This record gives sequence, structure tokens and C-alpha cells, in this order.
Amino acid sequence: MEVVENTFEVERVKKSKVTETDFGNLQFGRVFSDHMFIAEYADGKWGKAKIQPYQNLSISPASCVFHYGQAIFEGLKAYRSTKGEIVLFRPDQNHLRLNKSALRMCMPEVPKHFFIEGLKQLIDIDRNWIPEGDDLSLYIRPFLIADEAFLGVKPSSRYKFMIITSPTSTYYTGAVKVKVENHYSRACQGGIGAAKAAANYAASIFPATQAQKQGYHQLIWTDANEHKYIEECGTMNIMFVINGNLITPSIERDTILPGITRASILQLAKKWNMNIEERRISVDEVLAAIKNNSLEEAFGVGTAATIAPFSNIGIGENDYELSDFNTWKFSNKAKDYLDQVKRGTQEDEFNWTIKF
Ligand code: COI
Repeated sequence: MEVVENTFEVERVKKSKVTETDFGNLQFGRVFSDHMFIAEYADGKWGKAKIQPYQNLSISPASCVFHYGQAIFEGLKAYRSTKGEIVLFRPDQNHLRLNKSALRMCMPEVPKHFFIEGLKQLIDIDRNWIPEGDDLSLYIRPFLIADEAFLGVKPSSRYKFMIITSPTSTYYTGAVKVKVENHYSRACQGGIGAAKAAANYAASIFPATQAQKQGYHQLIWTDANEHKYIEECGTMNIMFVINGNLITPSIERDTILPGITRASILQLAKKWNMNIEERRISVDEVLAAIKNNSLEEAFGVGTAATIAPFSNIGIGENDYELSDFNTWKFSNKAKDYLDQVKRGTQEDEFNWTIKF
């Protein structure tokens, strides 16, 4: 066991799996790198954290997480710059959001040191796992689960915070076919929609499989009261360009995840003097814009998805095919800009990245 001063205890794998990994054929989230970060919380405080070989956990079947779902997570990526540095995109924002989710789910905050320094040290050890190439990155999944062995419904007294990583390509390959959901709901006001809680994703799986049977990749969730207003896609936030205006559902109502890619794209749109409207946007408004040809672009934005253009939108019984996304100005420009910041070929004027 190697202990590096001022850092975390490290136990390295005896033999790396990196050379056995097919980096030419990466899918999202299927392969995991050699090491993981793990820290335990008990009796009101965090204990020691360590980096160890990626492995299965030994955990009580009575753990709260299995029964009452106290589980939250984050998603971010490490890239390799053209100079060979490791680039992390806005990890501080993921840390802040994790702790907001923790508050809503009655879980302890994760210390910044664990999140940022743990992440950096883990990625540094597994730096050979960061793939090179367009749309390739090391996807990073920090998560927090409740592992007190107790079947009463109350906040757990024990937790595990972990970080695992996975060399990956983008979540969607090509343009995405989305369908407006008008029966099931992802989140309601006062619920947990703004938290990155595992339960939000669990609730989305059945409705998403129904849409997949009809040939769609993903749903566009609408508000739980009337199914009239567009919220998000579950795997990503959503944006439209209509008549030159960038329109995205406002996150004020606590039913939508406050996406970090979403916030970054809004900052770019502002810099480029685009008119931005963060507000409620109805399905009828999008339909009208499709019909009168004022819908110029429609796309999802998220860490895993990056910027995912929509090719089709299903509304009610009808399917609407959108224009060729290769001709879309804003989303392609924003994607190029973000890609270049992540590769270090564009000046990082907003201080979004950490490089090491
Ligand atoms: C991410 O974009 O990092 C996410 O967490 C979405 C996930 C469901 C793939």
C-alpha cells in the first residue's frame, strides 16, 4: 500500500487492463478503468478515503439504498488536450450540484477535497485510460449511496462516496429521435427533479422503453400538471432556436436538472449576443414553429450527450422530421467551441477547465 503525502492512500492494480481494452470501439459506460475512489461516512463524519483497484463492493442487503433509494450521482468528463495534458471541465460545478442533491435527499455533503483532489489523483493514476480522438473522453461518475443496514424509513447513518471512470464515446451516436411524453411524468414541483437522484432515472425507464418501441431514442418530458410545457429529456437538457432566439425551459420551478453544459452554452450564447429566453415553452409553441418553419434548431445538451441534435420530434400521433442538423449554425458553433476548450485549442476565457 503506497501512501503519498497530502494525498490519498493508493492501492494499485497488479496488472492494468488498459492494453486489453478496444479503444477503437468504445460505447458509453461499458468499460471501467483500473482504479476507483472510495470514502466512507459513519457516525456523523467522513473517514479515510482511498484509491483502490476497481472492484465489486461488499455491502449489506439491508442497505438503505436498495430499499428507499438514497442515491445521487454526477457525470463529468476528462479529456486529453492536444498538448497531452488532462483537462477536466468545470468539476467545481459538479461538486456544488452533488451537494445540492445531497441536501434534498437528506445525505451528507461530500468534502470538496474528496471530490476535486480525489478526482484529480484518480484520473492521474488512470491517465492512460483517457482516449484520444473526437467525441472520445473518460467519463467520470462520482456517486453517493446510503449503506446503513436498517429497514426503517429514515436518513441512513452510513454512506459511501465513490468515483468510477469509463473511457467512452458520446451517449448518442448521430441525431436523436425524441418524442413528447404526454402521460407519464419525470418530476413534479416540490419533488426531486432538480436533484441528480438515481430515482429520477428509475422513473424514466419504463416510459422511455415505450417510446423506444416506436423507434424513438428518448423522451421529451413535460410538466406533471398539464403535460403542456417542455421540461427536459432526462439524459439531457433541451434547447430550441426559433426565429434566431435561443429558448430553453427555465430551471426556476425545481423540476429540471440544472445542467452544467446547459449553463455553459447559455454563457456562450450571451457572449455571441444571441437573444436568450429562459422561460416556459409549450409543446404547442414548438409545434407551431415546426409548422411555420421558424424552428431552426432543436437539441439536447448534457455531459454524456454533449450537444445532441434532434432529427425527429414525435408530438401526439405525428412525427415531425427536422432540417439537416449539419446546416444548423448555433449548436454546431457551440459544440465546436466547447470541443476546442476541452482539447485546449481554444482559449479558456471563462476559466472552465482544470489542466494538469
Ligand atoms: C450525464 O450527462 O453525465 C448524465 O448523467 C446523464 C446520464 C443519464 C448518462
